[in-house]
Amino acid sequence: VADGYKVVSLHWQSDGSIVERDFLSGFLGGEKLLGRPVDIAEASDGTIFISDDYSGSIYRITARDAGGAAVSSLTMPQRQGGAEESGLASYTPEQRRSLAELGKSAYQNNACSSCHALDLSGSSASAVPLVGLAERYTVAELASFFTAPTPPMPVFPLNAADREALAVYLLARP
Ligand code: HEC
Repeated sequence: VADGYKVVSLHWQSDGSIVERDFLSGFLGGEKLLGRPVDIAEASDGTIFISDDYSGSIYRITARDAGGAAVSSLTMPQRQGGAEESGLASYTPEQRRSLAELGKSAYQNNACSSCHALDLSGSSASAVPLVGLAERYTVAELASFFTAPTPPMPVFPLNAADREALAVYLLARP
């Protein structure tokens, strides 16, 4: 089962135990992924900002007098995800095809599918779907993601050519 996808707050009790409460949730609506909180920052006035790299948003959370919180979403400009912007257009169709071919075997050889699904249909609930990547990464960004993946994804012993090929493979999918 996909886990995480929410922000929790930890409350230290007088007896030393810690109670966890949902702070911001609702990113995972059943099978549908709505967002993925990645980082949190607090301003000096107590306003909390939470970034979401799935929807490309930053949530601003301000305390209200009644004790509730107001959440507003500052949506970042989305990439169109076109070949132009992703950097795919800098390859000839022939290069793109052979890189995608290489990337596909790197994907298979490294058992990426043990944790990932390439689409949302029929994927097991435990797989992290690799979807909408073109809206969020260029070839260069995705290639560099593999040098320092977000935990718990492990680092793979991939060379620069493998990383580029994997990025092209994942971004060039229809
Ligand atoms: C042990 C499980 C595991 C394996 C194996 C694995 N990953 Fe991941 N990967 C993850 C997890 C978990 C995340 C999500 C991290 C997060 O929540 O941001 C992730 C994230 C990603 C992302 C970013 C997805 C996004 O939406 O931003 C890409 C791309 C990716 N993996 C590609 C690969 C490729 C290619 C391979 C094979 C070389 C691979 N992964 C192997 C667990 C794995």
